Amino acid sequence: MTNAAPRRYADLHAASLADRDGFWLAAARAIDWDAPPTRAFDPDQGVYGRWFPDGRLNVCRNAVDRHAEGPRGDQAAIIHDSPVTGTTRTVTYRALKDEVEVLAGLLADLGVGRGDRVVVYMPMVPEALFGMLACARIGAIHSVVFGGFAANELAARIEDAAPKVILAASCGIEPARVVAYKPLLDAAIARSAHKPDACLILQRPQAVAAMTEGRDHDWAEATDRARAAGRRAASVSMAATDPLYILYTSGTTGRPKGVVRDGGGYSVALTWSMTHLYGVAPGEVYFCASDIGWVVGHSYIVYAPLLHGCTTVLYEGKPVGTPDAGAFWRVVAEHGAATLFTAPTALRAIKKEDPRAETIADYDLSRFRALFLAGERADPDSVAWAERALDRPVIDHWWQTETGWAIAGNPIGVERLPVKYGSTTKPMPGYDLHVLDEAGQPVPPGTMGTIALKLPLPPGCLPTLWGSDERFRASYLTTYPGYYDTSDAGVVDAEGYVTVLGRTDDIINVAGHRLSTGGMEAVLASHPDVAECAVIGIRDALKGEAPCGFVVLKSGVAREAGMVERELVAKVRDEIGPVAAFKLALTVNRLPKTRSGKILRGTMKRIADGEDFAMPPTIEDPAVLDEIGASLKERGIGSAP
Ligand code: COA
Ligand code: AMP
Repeated sequence: MTNAAPRRYADLHAASLADRDGFWLAAARAIDWDAPPTRAFDPDQGVYGRWFPDGRLNVCRNAVDRHAEGPRGDQAAIIHDSPVTGTTRTVTYRALKDEVEVLAGLLADLGVGRGDRVVVYMPMVPEALFGMLACARIGAIHSVVFGGFAANELAARIEDAAPKVILAASCGIEPARVVAYKPLLDAAIARSAHKPDACLILQRPQAVAAMTEGRDHDWAEATDRARAAGRRAASVSMAATDPLYILYTSGTTGRPKGVVRDGGGYSVALTWSMTHLYGVAPGEVYFCASDIGWVVGHSYIVYAPLLHGCTTVLYEGKPVGTPDAGAFWRVVAEHGAATLFTAPTALRAIKKEDPRAETIADYDLSRFRALFLAGERADPDSVAWAERALDRPVIDHWWQTETGWAIAGNPIGVERLPVKYGSTTKPMPGYDLHVLDEAGQPVPPGTMGTIALKLPLPPGCLPTLWGSDERFRASYLTTYPGYYDTSDAGVVDAEGYVTVLGRTDDIINVAGHRLSTGGMEAVLASHPDVAECAVIGIRDALKGEAPCGFVVLKSGVAREAGMVERELVAKVRDEIGPVAAFKLALTVNRLPKTRSGKILRGTMKRIADGEDFAMPPTIEDPAVLDEIGASLKERGIGSAP
């Protein structure tokens, strides 16, 4: 942003809506363009318009080369801090450029070019970042898949993205076990109708993978050969509107949605956010304890810190257990992080283990300024606990895979607004946020409704879904014409503070991970003994929500219910992955339904959460609710109605 930028939040937000083009063209000056945009927004392109339609840039050059070739060459770009392997590795900007150039050259040799897709199935290691940036360098579109997903989910993403090449590691490392990725990758490729031409496999000593002749290449050997042969790829000039990546996220059905991110708008929005929302300067250390498989990881482990010339901490560990609840504070102190960004679940896990926050005293947090939370609702208790323990601002901010950066937050780089516990503070620039009722009419302040964003969405947000403008329209733009439907319910108070209350669809949030209950129901329903089922998210003190599946067995099934329940738990783990954290399947005689046959999932959730509920007037048989309550009570959950 220019120095002439308004200084106060209210002015800034108003300016971003009143002079949209002027605001974002000014923000765009922070980026090195091959062809600077002359126009900010073209409403006639794409589904609802496109940002920076005539701008050209290379995102990798902005994130790597311009720092490597300037005074930041010897500055750490990435610090890989890995308590699960007991190693720490620092990669300077100069070394990062070298790695990325060579890997990009190798990808080009494997036939990858502009617009080709590359799936990345890797844990939190620097090579994963080299892979993402190498794709950006040659105009290829990466699609990172989180390591906690099973082969089936990986297969669905491979089939949809149709990658030329897959970058993978032999394994990921969880505190209690080594997760062999290669068998999952092989199973996924076998299951997918689309086959990649090649796979590049990073062998890790914790589980060396068997290679498939003719398809798999050893990462270290292949990059060594490429380097020795002088194979390096220069960055190519891309349109600002070209896709940088596809990131799959849960939709309301089992089929994941491929959120498309374009390079220009994303670079501008992220760079703006580093200064104004996070209050971080180039050269500082930025620690985001998410995973590169999630949007938070894409934006704030990889792209934003590097675009801004910061040092990013790539942490391969957990908030607790690697080795203790002081792990985050150790990382902050050891690397001198200015800010930490994590999910409320992680904070709850730390609080549970170290309620008096005694581990904090072991570390020098003098360079640490603020804690940011996102990914799920931040409970006021945990926020207040962290504020007291850290004596620093604790900032909740709300966003979605679709938006790529915060919709609402507290822009401490502009003005630190007073915190209201439970609220994510105020809309960020470019977000014209409204709370609407079912008829699409704005509700008065303090009234709950669906949060909708008036089009256009600001730069950085998705322009469409991969390969399906139609699904994009149907999923987000048709409920409220002229608006993007966030599918989050919420309230805006008289002072403009935004509180997000929960999803209006069947998505649940388990330990900051977004999951579709519809997807889990599809897995349960495919069990031969299951007649019908319903999955709900029930309140969980640590994970926010935990999935719970109710199943009705087919008549005539003589097998013990407990055995079927165990099979169902294993089936969800097998087909969706351990990340679903599906541990509870309950057999019941019937499900509560309306007279028209709709399953009353909301009422079941209220019973499981021990909340009061009104008897739905259209319920077919109220006695079913007693049965649901009793079966939950047997497992010590909820309260019988
Ligand atoms: N690869 C393979 N498996 C993974 C994985 C990965 N990258 N990440 C998680 N899993 C597995 C876990 O090992 C666990 O398996 P288990 O059932 O065998 O124990 C399962 O998936 C569920 O994991 P998780 O929900 O993370 O629970 P946990 O009990 O292992 O850890 C917390 C609890 C709170 C420590 C953890 O959930 C956490 O760090 N949450 C923060 C999440 C976050 O940062 N989200 C990003 C949004 S901003
Ligand atoms: P994801 O796409 O995985 O980032 O998940 C997005 C969803 O997580 C949102 O639609 C919200 O339901 C929820 N979410 C994310 N951040 C917050 C927050 N700060 N407060 C409340 N809910 C949040």
